[in-house]
Amino acid sequence: MIYINNNKEFHLTNGMISYICRVEEKTGVLEQLYFGSAIPHQPTFDYLIEREIRPSNNFKKEDHTSSLEHIKQEMPMYGTTDFRYPAVEVQYPDGDAISHFNYSNYRISNKKRKIPNLPTSFYDEAEAETLTIVLKDRYSSLTIEMDYTIFKDFPIISRQNHIVHHDDCRYQLMRFMSMSLDLPIDDCDWLHLDGAWARETQVKRDKLHSGLQQISSTRGASSHIHNPFFAICEKSATEFQGDVYAFSLIYSGNFVGQIEVDTYRISRVQMGINPYQFSWQLEKGDVFSSPEVIMNYAQNGFNEMSRNFHAFFKKHLIRQTWASKERPVLINNWEATYFNFDESKIQALAQEAADLGIELFVLDDGWFGHRDNDASSLGNWQVDKRKLPHGIRSLSQKIHEKGLKFGLWFEPEMVSMDTPLYQAHPDWIVGHPQKNISHGRNQYVLDFSQNCVIDCIFEQMDAVLKACEIDYVKWDMNRYISEAYSVSLGKQRQGEFFHRYILGVYALYEKLLAKYPDLLIESCAGGGGRFDPALLYYAPQTWTSDDTDAIERLKIQYGASMVYPLSAIGSHVSEVPNHQVARMTSLKMRSDVALFGTFGYELDVTKLSQREKSQVKNQIILFKKHRMLLHTGTFFRLQSPFNGNVCAWMVVSENQTEALIGYYQILAEPNPPYQRLRLKGLNADFDYTIWEKEQVRTGKDLMAVGLIFGENYIDRASDFWQRQMAGDFSSKLIYLTRNKMQS
Ligand code: DGJ
Repeated sequence: MIYINNNKEFHLTNGMISYICRVEEKTGVLEQLYFGSAIPHQPTFDYLIEREIRPSNNFKKEDHTSSLEHIKQEMPMYGTTDFRYPAVEVQYPDGDAISHFNYSNYRISNKKRKIPNLPTSFYDEAEAETLTIVLKDRYSSLTIEMDYTIFKDFPIISRQNHIVHHDDCRYQLMRFMSMSLDLPIDDCDWLHLDGAWARETQVKRDKLHSGLQQISSTRGASSHIHNPFFAICEKSATEFQGDVYAFSLIYSGNFVGQIEVDTYRISRVQMGINPYQFSWQLEKGDVFSSPEVIMNYAQNGFNEMSRNFHAFFKKHLIRQTWASKERPVLINNWEATYFNFDESKIQALAQEAADLGIELFVLDDGWFGHRDNDASSLGNWQVDKRKLPHGIRSLSQKIHEKGLKFGLWFEPEMVSMDTPLYQAHPDWIVGHPQKNISHGRNQYVLDFSQNCVIDCIFEQMDAVLKACEIDYVKWDMNRYISEAYSVSLGKQRQGEFFHRYILGVYALYEKLLAKYPDLLIESCAGGGGRFDPALLYYAPQTWTSDDTDAIERLKIQYGASMVYPLSAIGSHVSEVPNHQVARMTSLKMRSDVALFGTFGYELDVTKLSQREKSQVKNQIILFKKHRMLLHTGTFFRLQSPFNGNVCAWMVVSENQTEALIGYYQILAEPNPPYQRLRLKGLNADFDYTIWEKEQVRTGKDLMAVGLIFGENYIDRASDFWQRQMAGDFSSKLIYLTRNKMQS
C-alpha cells in the first residue's frame, strides 16, 4: 500500500484513494502533491508539481521558485517564507519562532504506535500500514515524526504527529496540528455540525470564502457548539454524489478545525489541538503527540462519507467488546423522577420496565450524598441512605433479580461545595485560588491534570462498582471550564492545562476499563457536549442530547449520523408534553425516531395506560427484532429534516437481504402532493417483500421508482377512506426482506 520513489516520493494507495507527498529538493520540506481517488502508481510524480515565479520572499538565495508561500506542504512552519498559518510553532530559547523542519528519513510499520492515555484507532497487522516520515529541525535537535496510516479496506488515512526533544534546551511548543493538508481547491462548500445545549449536531453548509474559516472549542470539551468534524465538498455535492473530503479528530478537548483559502486557490486544511491558550514545555527526552485525525475521502457524497466513518469507527476505534455486541434496551429514571425518588419508586419503575421487556435499568443523577438538587454532593459518591436505605448493592441485586441489568450515573470530573472533598482539597479545583472561580450548574471542576485527583475519584467509583452488580455506567459532565489554572503546574506550564486535563479524563477511563473490561459506558456531557470519536473509543454510546423531543431529535440524530454510527447515538422515548419543548407527539412517532439509535425509555412507565403499555411492549419486541440490523447494517440518509417537512432514513443489512426504513412527516399538509421515497443500498437483482404493503418489488425498482406512499390525503379521511387522520408529527416504519422464493 505504500510506494516510495527514489527515497523522495511517497505514495499511499489502497485502490480507493491515493495520498502523495514528496521531499522538496530546494527547501527540504515535505511537499503535498495529491489526495483524492486512487491514481495508478508512476515511477515519478514530478508532473504533479506546480511552480510559478511570483512576487514573494524566496527561501533560497538567487532563486525565485523557492517561496514556501507557493508550495503545498505537509508540515508548514513559521520563518520559511510561508505566511499562512503553520502546523507547528516552536518558541526557541532566544524567544523567536523561526523553524525549519527538513526531511530526514522514513520508516514503514504495520504496528500501531500506542500513546498512553490518548485514544487512537487500532488495527491488526494485515489491516493497515503506517508510514512515518521524520523531519529534523535545522536550528535545534527537535525532530517531528509524522505518522500516515493507510487502511486496507477504507478510503481513509489517519494522521498523527509527534515532536521529539533530544537536547538540553527548553522549547515551548505553541502550536502542533494533527494534520495540515494543502488542497488545490477553493470553489467548494464546507459542512460542519453546530449547535448548543439541547440543540446539538445541526448540519451547516457554507460556501468556502477566501481567508480563514474555522470551527473550534475553547471550553475544555469538544462541546455542543461545534463537533470536531468538518467536510469540504464540491458545490454540487449531495448526499449521493460529489467529492467530499472529511476530517474527524479523535479528541475531546479544545480543538480547532480550519480552512484557510489563499489567494492562489489553495485551501490549507488543518485540524488539531486548539493553539488558543495552549503551550507545552518540551524538555529533554519528551515526546509530545498530537491527537489522531481521520481523513476520509468519499467520491459519492455525504452518505458515502458517513458510511466510511461508521464502518471505520466500528472496526478500528470502538472497543471491540462492545463494537458489535447487542446493546440493551434501557430505561433511565431521569425524566421520570429527576432528583425526587426513593427505593420503592425505583423498584416500581424497574418492575414495570422488566414486565415491558426492557433489559437495563439506569439509575441517573441523585442517588449519592444528599443530592436533592443540582447544588449538592458531586464528588461524594456514597449512597444516599435517605433515598436508598438498603444501599446500592442491595438495589443492584434486586434489579438483577427482576431480570434487568443495572446501570449507574456518575459525574466523575465534578465537585459540589457542600462535600468533604471540596472542603479538604481546595487545591484540587480548577481555577486560580486568588481569582474568581465561576460555577456552572452550581458545580466546580476537579483538576484532572493531577494524578492524585484521578486516583481519589477512581477509588470512590471502584468502591461502588466492586461492591455492587453494575453492568453500565453513564459518565456525565455538565459544565465547561472557564478559568483554566492548576495549582500543581508551574507558571511555565499553565498552557498545558487543558490538554493535561483531557488526558486525565482518558486516564480515568483507562483505569476503570482495565479493572472492569466488560462495563458498558455511555458518555454524556449535558447531552452531546462531548460527542466525539475519542470518547467512543472507551464508551461505545453517547447520550446525544438532553432534548428528547422526537421532532427535534430528527435533526439532532440526522446530524450526528454524519459521523457517528447508530449504535453510538443514545436515543430514548420520553413523555409528552415533552420536557424541553412541550410538544405533543404520538408514542409511535417517539419510538420510530428512537429506534434509529441505541433505543431506550426515559419516562414514568408506571403511569402508562394499559394500551400504552402494550404499545411499548410491541415497540421493544420490534427493536429487539431489528437491533442487529440497526446496529450492524449500513445506514442511509434519504431525506433531510433540514430541507423540508419530511425526514427519511434506512438501514440495510450487510448481505442486503433486509432493510428497515423510517419515514417522518413533521407537519400535516392538506391535500398534499403525492409522495415517493427512492431507496438506497438494496441489491438491484433481489426481489423484496414489503411487509407493510404485502407487496413484492425488485431492488432495482425500489431504488429507481421508490416506495409509493398513498394514504396521505387527510381531509375527512375517516369519512371517505375509513382511516384515521395522521395529523402533525406522523411516522411510518417499512420493513423489507428478500423474497424467500428467491433466496
Ligand atoms: C445531563 C444529562 O444529559 C441528563 O441525561 C441527566 O443525566 C442529567 N445531566 C443529570 O444531572
